[in-house]
Amino acid sequence: MIKIEALTKQYGQFTAADAVTFDVQAGEIFGLLGPNGAGKSTTINCLSGLLEPTSGDVSINGHPMVGDGIAAKQSLGLVPQELALYEDLTGHENLNFWGQAYGLSGEALKQRIDTVLDLVGLSDRQKDRVETYSGGMKRRLNFACAILHEPKALLLDEPTVGVDPQSREHLLSAVADLKTQGTAVIYTSHYMEEVERLCDRVAIIDKGRIMAMGTVDELRSQMGEKDLIVLKGDFSVLNQDVLEGFEVMEWSDNQVRFWCANAASQLPELLAKFAQCHIKETAVKKANLESLFIKLTGRALRD
Ligand SMILES: Nc1ncnc2c1ncn2[C@@H]1O[C@H](COP(=O)(O)OP(=O)(O)O)[C@@H](O)[C@H]1O
Ligand SMILES: [Mg+2]
Repeated sequence: MIKIEALTKQYGQFTAADAVTFDVQAGEIFGLLGPNGAGKSTTINCLSGLLEPTSGDVSINGHPMVGDGIAAKQSLGLVPQELALYEDLTGHENLNFWGQAYGLSGEALKQRIDTVLDLVGLSDRQKDRVETYSGGMKRRLNFACAILHEPKALLLDEPTVGVDPQSREHLLSAVADLKTQGTAVIYTSHYMEEVERLCDRVAIIDKGRIMAMGTVDELRSQMGEKDLIVLKGDFSVLNQDVLEGFEVMEWSDNQVRFWCANAASQLPELLAKFAQCHIKETAVKKANLESLFIKLTGRALRD
């Protein structure tokens, strides 16, 4: 349904998206996970036709974005990272506006507005002006506007940033609902918990490049089931040789990070090795998308 092949976007000498390639089937939720500046919005905006790629091909429902853009856009819904709402209109009026922009009218439009309001849990607030909404409610309305015309492909750009837990739940369950109706969804986020919970497949993106791609389970197994142990203390009194046989990721005077199988059972023995280091903090991070990201890039997702 969504096809993106060797998409590259350059701003001058800077490459914001570098040969990005993947496709998304009907009824699939595809996660694009990466930190700020990774190139998620660049990719989404090239997919939606807002940005022109430097090279590469994008098509939606078989229609190339460059060449057959009008047909491609008819199959597409976009929930942009920045809100696209009229603050001094009511929720219902915003939906009416967007519905007409998509060519809906009359009874069909009325019914769709009722359906999407119900889906995002805003039916009881539809007559209030958007300026009175919480941030999370605005995000939900922004989402509702994008799905009025029942797009076959939906692009969501960090839809849950800064929203309250209740709005987050509404949004996540609305996305899951669209999947059951056969919509192809791209969900970008820097929250690995959301991506792990929602997405059928995930691409981890950093500095414009896809670093890994697969189902959450496939990506987890790339970690070899190892946990990441993080210790804080004074390591200047020891030599890194103490961790011989372990894959050490960081050894600095005040922090040490290394990979370890069965961390829970090995921890007492390991801590004994660091007895002179005045350990102040011990953390064991289970293999998950975050630890895979750290392994691939050496940095945390939320640095
Ligand atoms: N119009 C632009 N001109 C120059 N650089 C840009 C422009 N838009 C984005 N960038 C840069 O491209 C990179 C990727 O940005 P973006 O796609 O917005 O990342 P993300 O959405 O993952 O946070 C960032 O380093 C950003 O500073
Ligand atoms: Mg972005």
